Amino acid sequence: MALILGIESSCDETAVAVVDSAGLTLDARIVAQRIASQDAAHAPYGGVVPEIAARAHAEVIAPMVGAVLADAGLTLDDMDAIAATAGPGLIGGVMVGLVTGKALAMAAGKPLIAVNHLEGHALSPRLADPSLQYPYLLLLVSGGHCQVLEVRGLGQYRRLATTIDDALGEAFDKTAKILGLGYPGGPAVERMAREGDAKAVRLPRPLVGSGEPHFSFAGLKSAVLRAKQAGIHADADIAASFQQAAIDCVVDRTRIAMKAAHGMTALVVAGGVAANGALRSALETLAGEAGLPLVAPPPRLCTDNAAMIGWAGAERHAMGYSDALDVAARPRWPLDADAAPVRGAGVKG
Ligand code: KG4
Ligand code: ZN
Repeated sequence: MALILGIESSCDETAVAVVDSAGLTLDARIVAQRIASQDAAHAPYGGVVPEIAARAHAEVIAPMVGAVLADAGLTLDDMDAIAATAGPGLIGGVMVGLVTGKALAMAAGKPLIAVNHLEGHALSPRLADPSLQYPYLLLLVSGGHCQVLEVRGLGQYRRLATTIDDALGEAFDKTAKILGLGYPGGPAVERMAREGDAKAVRLPRPLVGSGEPHFSFAGLKSAVLRAKQAGIHADADIAASFQQAAIDCVVDRTRIAMKAAHGMTALVVAGGVAANGALRSALETLAGEAGLPLVAPPPRLCTDNAAMIGWAGAERHAMGYSDALDVAARPRWPLDADAAPVRGAGVKG
């Protein structure tokens, strides 16, 4: 039972939350939260500009902490610990949030918990669904990552699959850019796909059928570009066909990964792309094949937020973990540090 202040600033959302780990429902667990999106600042560039992101975090983060505590009707003294994202992510932004967390922890004499942003996503389904037990199979799909992991317990992750090139969210964002839909692209592609015919454009399904469960989306993205340049397809048909191809890849690859996992209580999907309704329903079917429930947090908990950082902090706090005030921000921080490098993969971890 603990009250945790969570801070998130690893990409383009500045977020602060107060989490009450004793809450029995999601609403009771998130006592207060504010999320400041930087979408408007990055939109002209079609993607996140790291320097702009870091500056924008620095401008809003301190007043936001005050506002969230006021929303909660609590003070810093009421907190049991301060949890801040310490990586992986854009290092300037991570440093802004982590330094803020350190300053608050030092000023209030509270423990600091340095949270891995990916652990935040990985545990967010437990924040949303108190009945979800370890171990579970996690499909983590965000702007920077596409992985399947066994989540065996807090801090115990075994990576079964990863992408050899682009992340799934990146593929959605690039497709959005090709179709002129702006940034962030995932939600816009999903909306446009609803108006299109998913069979209209023939697109590849990279790695589908391969025995290794890894992902690849670079060839799909190039095919989307060629389809657009051909000038014969409606944009909505390209969007729908892309989304279907991407989902077919995810389902096939995850099905292979599931065969390597044993004793799982559920198939869980988390990360920004888990907000996609078409993906969620395809995964529902896949989980059903294996006789497992699909657990997917509500979309607002899939995209970056501070409640998931506060929750990961609460799980760490309950285990007696805390971090020294000189803990470093980390641009890369894989959940499974022992995972073997994958042939053809970049360095995204
Ligand atoms: O987890 P997240 O908020 O940030 C990272 O840690 O990367 O994920 C952001 C990614 C972006 O690529 C965004 O386009 C994608 O999630 N996304 C979606 C949807 N909502 C967000 N992709 C597909 N459909 C959506 N509805
Ligand atoms: Zn994220």
